[in-house]
Amino acid sequence: MTEPSAVAEARILIVGLGLIGGSLAAALREAGFGRRDSDDAGGGGPVKRAEILACDPDADEIARGIEMGLIDGGDTRLEGVIDGATLVVLAVPVLAMRGVMGELAGLLGRAAPQVVVTDVGSTKAAIRDGAVAAFGRMPPSLVLGHPIAGSEKSGVAAANPALYADHKVILTPEPDTDPAALARVRTLWAACGAEVLEMDVARHDQVLARTSHLPHLLAFSLVDTLARQDERLEIFRYAAGGFRDFTRIAGSDPVMWRDIFIANRDAVLTSLEDFEAGVARLRDAVERGDGDAMLATFDRASHARHYFDTLLNKTSYQAEYQMQQQGKLRYRVSPGGGVTGRIRVPGDKSISHRSIMLGALAEGVTEIKGFLEGEDSLATLQAFREMGVAIEGPHQGRVTVHGVGMHGLKAPSGPLYVGNAGTAMRLFAGLLAGQAFDTELTGDTSLTRRPMGRVADPLRLMGAEIDTAEGGRPPLHIHGGKTLKGIAYDMPMASAQVKSCLLLAGLYAEGETRVREPAPTRDHTERMLTGFGYAVQREGDICWLEGGGKLTAAPIDVPSDISSATFFLVAAAITPGSDLVLEHVGINPTRIGVINILRLMGADLRQENERVVGGEPVADLHIRYTPLKGIEIPVDQVPLAIDEFPALFIAAANAEGVTRLRGAEELRVKESDRLQAMADGLAAIGVEHTLYPDGIDIMGGGRHEGPNYGGGRIDSLEDHRIAMAFTIAGLRASDAIVIDDCANVATSFPGFVDLARKVGLTLEEESGEEGA
Ligand code: S3P
Repeated sequence: MTEPSAVAEARILIVGLGLIGGSLAAALREAGFGRRDSDDAGGGGPVKRAEILACDPDADEIARGIEMGLIDGGDTRLEGVIDGATLVVLAVPVLAMRGVMGELAGLLGRAAPQVVVTDVGSTKAAIRDGAVAAFGRMPPSLVLGHPIAGSEKSGVAAANPALYADHKVILTPEPDTDPAALARVRTLWAACGAEVLEMDVARHDQVLARTSHLPHLLAFSLVDTLARQDERLEIFRYAAGGFRDFTRIAGSDPVMWRDIFIANRDAVLTSLEDFEAGVARLRDAVERGDGDAMLATFDRASHARHYFDTLLNKTSYQAEYQMQQQGKLRYRVSPGGGVTGRIRVPGDKSISHRSIMLGALAEGVTEIKGFLEGEDSLATLQAFREMGVAIEGPHQGRVTVHGVGMHGLKAPSGPLYVGNAGTAMRLFAGLLAGQAFDTELTGDTSLTRRPMGRVADPLRLMGAEIDTAEGGRPPLHIHGGKTLKGIAYDMPMASAQVKSCLLLAGLYAEGETRVREPAPTRDHTERMLTGFGYAVQREGDICWLEGGGKLTAAPIDVPSDISSATFFLVAAAITPGSDLVLEHVGINPTRIGVINILRLMGADLRQENERVVGGEPVADLHIRYTPLKGIEIPVDQVPLAIDEFPALFIAAANAEGVTRLRGAEELRVKESDRLQAMADGLAAIGVEHTLYPDGIDIMGGGRHEGPNYGGGRIDSLEDHRIAMAFTIAGLRASDAIVIDDCANVATSFPGFVDLARKVGLTLEEESGEEGA
């Protein structure tokens, strides 16, 4: 598409030869940007360097540009350089744009017939107004743009050919902008190594007011304030790195910045108002010596700053996750490999979510060890920060939560985004139904498809007011300030999330909240509430609590997640020669369906070093290869292994005979429809199976050596557990298994790929949309 325009520029005119215009010339020179002689014949000839001319009122700047080899010539007047220009770049200060465009309008007829005009101004609405005044309307060949790059230096002498490399350039096309003109401006910036984005004018100006204009205003103001207090500037002798880092941009071009603040007045004032409110809050906290309030602010800021750092440096899994969401992440598993060693998988997701929730509502400080630093639980942590809770960490799984008490949460300033986490959304629904303020809960596309009526309906029975999107889907709008009343609820499905949601709402309700479960589900909420000093009773299949009590902070040691360990248990169970120890795995009786099922299939799986840690039973799981056989999975094990079925299906595909699962319709409403997703994946690698509405029959390969199925391409449907299940399937495949959309593995199992490689899998990560 962009190929013809990639080589179409014969004469580029840069109006305003300062740092920005000069750096553009330098970058284009270095890239050999220009046109091909044979353009008219469809391209293909050698690239002929574009002629680059400049117009600047300062003849010395032009002379310097020529001397530096950046431009071929120039003039102090537009009419001296406009003839035959194919592309005009306006790089003058924002307030000078209007005059320059007025002059250009009268001369444009002398430029090349297909001339395209663009600019580099830091504000866009004012420049668009100027263009309309100059040309009578926004010409379709005028594409406004803004390179997000600069320096505190100015003038052509500071021109830097690398200024735009890996920086963003925002273009703000109008509905009737000529697509060919847009493509040519894109090509111009791409040649400088920039990443080109598009945005509308208003949004551009708001975003830049916050991220660029406000910080410049503050830097100018701070340096000026200090300088005024000390006429001899003595004070700066004692200023160290913090001052230097904060104020570097106060050395920027004053004229340029005056223009920007005049041109983007309204957006700057709005962002300044927000800033002043933030400073006022902090001032108040300092005045009152309110350490918790300070910590809450600093922690949120520090977390956000580190996150920003990782985005810039693209180092942490979070940044990777972000990139992969845009670029997609694929796993390629080579067939074969072994499974040996001793590993520890990350902390339990269910317990990690709850540790933050209960810690936040408790009185006192909760110290957490082993916290899962996955996207899901980090989203919960961030949500509480947004409700004013001071949380330190996570640092290597350690988190400190400064509890605010049952009624200490504050209204968040916007929607709470919980990403991919169904657990977070459902538990939050209960907890937030009892607050005095309104909240909105949102999530990613997968979560947006998941049913929330299962919590909204019983919460409404308790007196909560909750709006959902159509079909009981997210987002959830929870109206605060309602009086909740305890209910006795008979759950229609075995769901720990629903049970936990109601118990959390019950903390705020009048009287007793009782929940009956049709089958036992994970009981972390009950155990942890008890650990925080809140009485929860149980009799048979009913548990209940009385509202109005309080939670007292208690230390939490999060065991390794048995759901994550499962992928390696199954990997070892299906791979001849395996011998693997998984350390410190939580073996809560409501979670050990996978152990029971694998043992029924004949696995050699032992629990060693059993102990109780922070109220949860824990063991090292030792597994060695022995051939598996197909079984009928006992229905009572289904809720106890609900997250483990994707991996168990892979065990079944390797077992001798048929494995039958029924009563598992809940699998259809997880991060994906896991029955369908697994059936499709099994079909792709040639595993015989029959799908049922509530289960599946899987005909295992049953070979003790060599492959049990073929390779193939799997759509994980962005479901972390589907991706990990087919990764371990590779151990017994005849060919490579390629799995698409694996970025969400980071929601529950950061470091999965490294651990998989460590035990012996051959696994590559690939990015990009295309190819296999
Ligand atoms: C969870 C409960 C289960 C499980 C989920 C975590 C929890 O969901 O699948 O991964 O932490 O309470 P359901 O309650 O929907 O079965």
